[in-house]
Amino acid sequence: MAGTSPAMTAAKWFNMTESNDLDNSARKMETNMTRFLSRIRLAAGASALLACILVSGFLLAYVAFAPPAGAQQRNSDTAVNPTASSVKEHQLLQQMRIISGRGSIPDVKSYNIEQPAGRDWRHFHEVTLHWLGGIAILGVLGLLVLFYLIRGMVSIEFGRSWRTLIRFNMFERLVHWMTATCFVALALSGLNITFGKDLLMPLVGDETFATWSQWAKYAHNYLSFPFTLGVIVILLMWVAWNLPTRLDVEWVKQGGGLFGSKHPPAGRFNAGQKMIYWIVVIGGTAVATSGYLLMFPFYLTDIAGMQLAQIVHGTVAMLFVAAMLAHVYIGTIGMEGAFEAMWNGKVDVNWATQHHSAWLEEESVKAQANPPQGRMAPAE
Ligand code: HEM
Repeated sequence: MAGTSPAMTAAKWFNMTESNDLDNSARKMETNMTRFLSRIRLAAGASALLACILVSGFLLAYVAFAPPAGAQQRNSDTAVNPTASSVKEHQLLQQMRIISGRGSIPDVKSYNIEQPAGRDWRHFHEVTLHWLGGIAILGVLGLLVLFYLIRGMVSIEFGRSWRTLIRFNMFERLVHWMTATCFVALALSGLNITFGKDLLMPLVGDETFATWSQWAKYAHNYLSFPFTLGVIVILLMWVAWNLPTRLDVEWVKQGGGLFGSKHPPAGRFNAGQKMIYWIVVIGGTAVATSGYLLMFPFYLTDIAGMQLAQIVHGTVAMLFVAAMLAHVYIGTIGMEGAFEAMWNGKVDVNWATQHHSAWLEEESVKAQANPPQGRMAPAE
């Protein structure tokens, strides 16, 4: 075995899969087809990302430069309309700093109608969060387009070996897709709360927007439960492989092999994937905790706590969406052979050698120690 890397030796222990019976010419045809498809994917991916950027940039500019709601309170001669309710409120606020009254219901906090902290919160909700979300999401999309155009898809360096090994079992894939589906629904319905009124309502009209928003809000509330369950199971299911190791330091130093031709060794999950894991666990815990405080108002917090919960929820949600865009990119058009790991649970041995050599070695040791009847055998 002189001159053969441990990972290559390990690779021998994984049997051919159903592709075993392909003869050479069929395999050659399949390789050409794969190359052709990957070029189409490259072009389609770049165009889709570019279109996303252009449309989102346009929408952001629209939101940023749209006239503020107060502008609608003016008459055509630009004089302030003295009967507009916001004007009266504004004058009251200037004089009193707080608008409160008396009431007959036991909930005394409802007697305060407007207060300075409420104005700060409103500014965060109406302005700061829009900018934060727009910059985080569009910024990451822009960087991904740039990266894709410069680096393209990271291909399997030595082509496919047509031998595969199991990377994720059925349960792991089920939990992943359930959590991911809930996440997408929560993200779209949440972004609708932040941006929908400015971006969607002018396009679809008030009635349609109201109906859609009502259903989106139901989805946001009810899908929060399976999402939270998914985050908890993900934490327990993968924590053992996501603790930092010395290999991670080397992996980070070499930029994960994304920029050069060298591929640093990694275990089952590399440092980049571990980062995504902790973003999901910590970010998921933060959005869930703050989200339930918002969903069950005033059970555990006062008004200041509610405002803080909303600020945390909105901020973490925007950063979470931006981080997940990078995760989706790497798992689809960014890296050849990655998607199938979560789709059918198997990866090509050459992919594993390239990206997770230490994991492949561990798996081969396990396979040699305990070869399942008829499936694992040196393929020579
Ligand atoms: C357990 C999970 C979650 C719960 C319980 C939850 C709950 C809530 C609640 C109650 C609201 C306020 C809705 C309203 O004002 O009517 C909200 C808003 C929002 N949620 Fe969630 N949510 C969860 C997860 C997520 C996730 C995963 C995302 C995105 C990644 C997200 C994004 C948002 C956004 C962007 C808003 C609007 C923020 C704003 O403009 O004020 N949420 N969420």
